[in-house]
Amino acid sequence: MITVMFVCLGNICRSPMAEAVFRKMAADAGLSEEIKADSCGMSGWHKGEPPHKGVIKTLERRGISCENIFASAFKKDYLKYDYIIAMDEQNLKDIQAQCENFKTAHPRLLSYYASGGRGGWVSVPDPWYTGDFETAYRLVDEGCRGLLEYIVKNHRLNINKNA
Ligand code: 4NP
Repeated sequence: MITVMFVCLGNICRSPMAEAVFRKMAADAGLSEEIKADSCGMSGWHKGEPPHKGVIKTLERRGISCENIFASAFKKDYLKYDYIIAMDEQNLKDIQAQCENFKTAHPRLLSYYASGGRGGWVSVPDPWYTGDFETAYRLVDEGCRGLLEYIVKNHRLNINKNA
């Protein structure tokens, strides 16, 4: 089982969006059994809440479900995940600050995986502040696509589009 943890600040906008988008991509590739995706926030401000309405609407339009996604706060235990994916540079710094005793944790920005790191962007702008869920979706989609490709290659997984 390959484990992926998406991380943002509140865990109600960008990282649950990434979790839902990535899960759908993995399911469409027939890889639900091989890859487990989760998300959390560096703050616990919205613990237990479902994703922001803007996220739910943006994903519903694309047939992507947010069912069973509720906000949780980052725990050191999450550094054991194989892939720790930060939505922005501040999230990455905050995760790295927790990594001293976890030599195996290699947190990276989502944008690292977008178009092989040449997507032309660094952080996913936070729709909590910008109100722009479409831009967040476009970047999350690009990053998740690249991440799935990376994982498939790195772990020699077989894609089954008919699954
Ligand atoms: P997120 O967005 O980190 O993408 O979930 C935020 C959600 C809530 C807050 C900040 C960012 N807040 O300040 O409550």
